[in-house]
Amino acid sequence: MEKKPLDGRKGPPRREVPPVVGLLLAMALMNALLYLCLDRLFISTPRSSLDPRHCPYGYFRVGQMNNCSAWLSCEELRTDVRPLKRVGEGAVKRVFLSEWKERKVALSRLTSLEMKEDFLHGLQMLKSLQGKHVVTLLGFCEEDNTILTEYHPLGSLSNLEETFNLSKYQNVNTWQQRLQLAMDYVGIINYLHHSPLGTLVMCDSSDLPKTLSQYLLTSNFSIVVNDLDALPLVNHSSGMFVKCGHRELHGDFVAPEQLWPYGEDTPFHDDLMPSYDEKIDIWKIPDVSSFLLGHVEGSDMVRFHLFDIHKACKSQSPAERPTAQAVLDTYQKVLNALRDTVVSQTREML
Ligand SMILES: Nc1ncnc2c1ncn2[C@@H]1O[C@H](COP(=O)(O)OP(=O)(O)OP(=O)(O)O)[C@@H](O)[C@H]1O
Ligand SMILES: [Mg+2]
Repeated sequence: MEKKPLDGRKGPPRREVPPVVGLLLAMALMNALLYLCLDRLFISTPRSSLDPRHCPYGYFRVGQMNNCSAWLSCEELRTDVRPLKRVGEGAVKRVFLSEWKERKVALSRLTSLEMKEDFLHGLQMLKSLQGKHVVTLLGFCEEDNTILTEYHPLGSLSNLEETFNLSKYQNVNTWQQRLQLAMDYVGIINYLHHSPLGTLVMCDSSDLPKTLSQYLLTSNFSIVVNDLDALPLVNHSSGMFVKCGHRELHGDFVAPEQLWPYGEDTPFHDDLMPSYDEKIDIWKIPDVSSFLLGHVEGSDMVRFHLFDIHKACKSQSPAERPTAQAVLDTYQKVLNALRDTVVSQTREML
């Protein structure tokens, strides 16, 4: 017996879409919509291949900020920045951990008007050299002698050993991490020697502690340069050389050409002191790198592999010292070679 249609209507039977086909159609539509949305999202972020922190000149972005913000003005620095406590001081600046819009920032104030020229030079360098090697500038006010920068809670490289000794950082206290820090340091020197402004010399580095105090350790264990107050320009083709300060320098941390050459019987006279070039920075690399490598398992093995390049850095003649790029290339090769050795040794043990 044939079943009657339930609605009792007569005529040709209606063509119904099976539910499974409907479901498939709905899913296809949703996929298409999702695809379009993702496409739009992708197109709206064209900077994906660029440094994600990169901002145009005059702008900055720190922490979780989504957009670049213009450098803060005098007005904004005066009203929106609240100093909390002093975290550092040098000859030129007094540095305060401060608060800006619930963020921690570093406010630097000129210590004495006598140092204003260095302070302004440092500010000019900070503005011109912004990028991954340099602390991020957030604002400045020349009228009030203030500079606002990104705050780095781990402080300067002078605190490196204390930081690595904290139990929470034991796992990063390895020769690999420390060699990477040395590469960051040489990378900064290389950047200064090939800066957009020309060949700049890191003059504020007359001894190891002073040198370490000019660099900050970031929370992800990389290095940025912070103090750019003494960065004179060298120009080999026009015969322009530099002198770091006007006083006599001593000790073997500074390059030999920075020492008074006329013996103890002749009193030091700035006008008679010969000038020099960026190779003074190369002379100092082995001492800074050795400090960064520290004394963990593997540090001495790295030191051994860096022996030849460090010996070349200590050539008495500046022209015989390698460039920062050549040092960096050697560090990279040593890092790769030692990593490969460690990997193959681990494989053998398994
Ligand atoms: N952004 C920052 N975050 C955390 N600490 C900072 C920051 N900037 C500076 N400091 C601390 O303040 C110290 C002094 O800063 P800086 O070297 O800029 O001062 P300075 O007066 O220019 O020094 P110098 O005597 O070398 O000329 C640094 O060594 C560091 O310990
Ligand atoms: Mg300093």
